[in-house]
Amino acid sequence: MPRTMRALVGGFGPDWAVREVARPEPGPGQVLIRTRAAATNNGDIPMLDRADPTRGGTGEAFVAGFEYAGTVAALGDGTGDWRVGDAVMGSTPHSFAEYVLADHRHVLPLPDGLDPAVACALPTGLLTEHGALTAAGFTAGQSVLITGASAGIGLIGAQLAKALGAAHVIGTTRAPGKRALLTEAGVDTVVVTPGTDLSAAVLAATGGRGVDVVLDHVGGPTFARCLPATRHDGHVVNIGRLDGPASTIDLDDLSYRHLTVHGVSFGFTRPDELAAVIAGLRPEVLAAVARGAIRPVIDRTVPLTEPGDAAGRLRSGAAVGKIVFTLPDA
Ligand SMILES: NC(=O)c1ccc[n+]([C@@H]2O[C@H](COP(=O)([O-])OP(=O)(O)OC[C@H]3O[C@@H](n4cnc5c(N)ncnc54)[C@H](OP(=O)(O)O)[C@@H]3O)[C@@H](O)[C@H]2O)c1
Repeated sequence: MPRTMRALVGGFGPDWAVREVARPEPGPGQVLIRTRAAATNNGDIPMLDRADPTRGGTGEAFVAGFEYAGTVAALGDGTGDWRVGDAVMGSTPHSFAEYVLADHRHVLPLPDGLDPAVACALPTGLLTEHGALTAAGFTAGQSVLITGASAGIGLIGAQLAKALGAAHVIGTTRAPGKRALLTEAGVDTVVVTPGTDLSAAVLAATGGRGVDVVLDHVGGPTFARCLPATRHDGHVVNIGRLDGPASTIDLDDLSYRHLTVHGVSFGFTRPDELAAVIAGLRPEVLAAVARGAIRPVIDRTVPLTEPGDAAGRLRSGAAVGKIVFTLPDA
């Protein structure tokens, strides 16, 4: 194996730079994966911007990326049943590189026949949306409101909820042109938020009762509007803050409806707990992927060594779904 590898590195400017960096070595409990493809996430851009020295950022170089698919290339001690050559996918930092290190408990088998360039865009969405549904105590037959349903992970959340038996999925977008995108992902009722009272629209779509579960990717004022859209004893999970982290809520909505509010942030989850969240994807969620019930929406696929304007496209909000970076076989 080579001692160095190519990677997309932040810390030089507004875009990722292709650099030759040291290849990591697996330590105890770690798996080294030869990456075949890696996918973008919303969190990639703030990280890139915070490090951008041309705009007052830290200038500290870092290998970017959070999710990947590839093949096990080497194993540290104590890595369970993994074998060199296993096809895998996962969500772990520094994935925009030819090799990525992962805690062996955070690696998932690649469902048979799934192209790594598709699979790489699934793990973060699967673990986040399934982790959030689990936190909410979701069961088949329930209704789910997904705010920011056109987000890469929101689209996976909609398909996942349907695959797990959701009776009614309601999804929001700010863009009327994205109605079809949401419908194709399994959203039964699309709410275009500008100019619509979200709470009233959800109550109207649920016979006045409200949804059982909310998966909120938007935060800000939208989070507050989710509370009166939730049934008595229902659950609201904040996943993202696309519209900002501050929200002024009416505590009457919370108390009179006996709501439970959860916050999840799997990038900040302790490794043991994250291992349990990832283990929770087997077998039901991986089976849904294997039968084609859950597919990521991919904006475009480009070679990792030629990212072009990928960062700019994500930053501008023009991308629909994930951008995938591919690497040829070793
Ligand atoms: N909790 C966790 O563990 C976890 C894990 C992964 C991601 N996240 C968070 O989940 C969110 C989604 O991540 P992602 O990677 O899927 O995002 P993404 O694909 O980059 O989301 C893009 C979509 O977000 C919507 N959006 C952007 N700004 C918005 C605003 N101000 N108000 C409402 N909608 C807005 C837009 O939808 P429309 O144009 O259709 O409105 C856009 O199409 C992010 O906040 C991310 O940080 C959390």
